[in-house]
Amino acid sequence: MISFKDVYCTFEDRGGIKEANFTINAGDFVFLTGPSGAGKSTLLRLMYMDVVPDKGEVVFQQYSSRNISRHDLPYLRRKVGMLFQDFRLLPDRNVYQNVALGLYAANYKAANIRDRVEEMLEKLDVADKWYHKPHELSGGEKQRVALARALAIEPRVLLADEPTGNLDPRVSIELVKLLYQINQSGTSVIMATHDYDIINRVPKYRLFQISKSKIVSAT
Ligand SMILES: Nc1ncnc2c1ncn2[C@@H]1O[C@H](COP(=O)(O)OP(=O)(O)OP(=O)(O)O)[C@@H](O)[C@H]1O
Ligand SMILES: [Mg+2]
Repeated sequence: MISFKDVYCTFEDRGGIKEANFTINAGDFVFLTGPSGAGKSTLLRLMYMDVVPDKGEVVFQQYSSRNISRHDLPYLRRKVGMLFQDFRLLPDRNVYQNVALGLYAANYKAANIRDRVEEMLEKLDVADKWYHKPHELSGGEKQRVALARALAIEPRVLLADEPTGNLDPRVSIELVKLLYQINQSGTSVIMATHDYDIINRVPKYRLFQISKSKIVSAT
C-alpha cells in the first residue's frame, strides 16, 4: 500500500530522512518512535506527499512521488485521514461544519453530507457538541472531532502525528483504543509517538525506531 525505496529527504543536510526502505501493507498498525528531531513528522509528510524525496521513490497505491501531478494530489489525499497533535480544527467553525467541510473537499454529494456527519459524530460520541466551536471543547473532544473528520471520507490509511501529545494519559489511552478499533476494521494506521505506555495498549503493531534521520530498526 505504501512503499519507500531508498528515500532521502534532507533539508540542506540538516535532519530529514535518509535511506528509508520499507513497505506498509493494508491493515498494518505502525508506530514511529524516536527522539525529537529524528524525522518522524518528515516520514509522515513523505507518505502523503506533502514533501517529495530528493532521491528514491515513495509509492502510495497507484501514485509515485516520481511522477505524481498537482492534479493527482487531491485524489491521493482523499484516501488519507490525518490527525495532528494540535488538532487543526477551524476555530471559527462549529463541530458540524468542521467535519462537513472535509466531505465537501472530498466531493461528497451535498445531499449525503448531513447524514454522514451525524453518523460520524455519533460514532465518536461528540454528537451533543454539534454547534460548539473548538474552543468550547476539551482536548479529548477536539481530537475525537478531528478523528470524525479524518474518518468521514473512509480513508484507507490514517496518519497520526503525535495525536496524544496534548491529551492527558487517560484520554490518550481512550484515543489509542479507538485507533485500534479503526485499524481492526481494515484501515492502516501509522502513528508517531514518544509514549511507550500508548504503544503497549495496542495488541498487535509494527514499530519503526527512528534516530538521526534513519530507521534504525523496523519490525
Ligand atoms: N521544512 C524544513 N526545513 C528545514 N528543516 C526541516 C524541515 N522540516 C524538518 N526539518 C528538520 O528535520 C529534522 C526532523 O524533523 P521532524 O519534524 O521530522 O522531527 P520529529 O521526529 O517529528 O520531531 P518531534 O518529535 O520533535 O516532532 C529536524 O532537525 C528539523 O529541524
Ligand atoms: Mg514531529
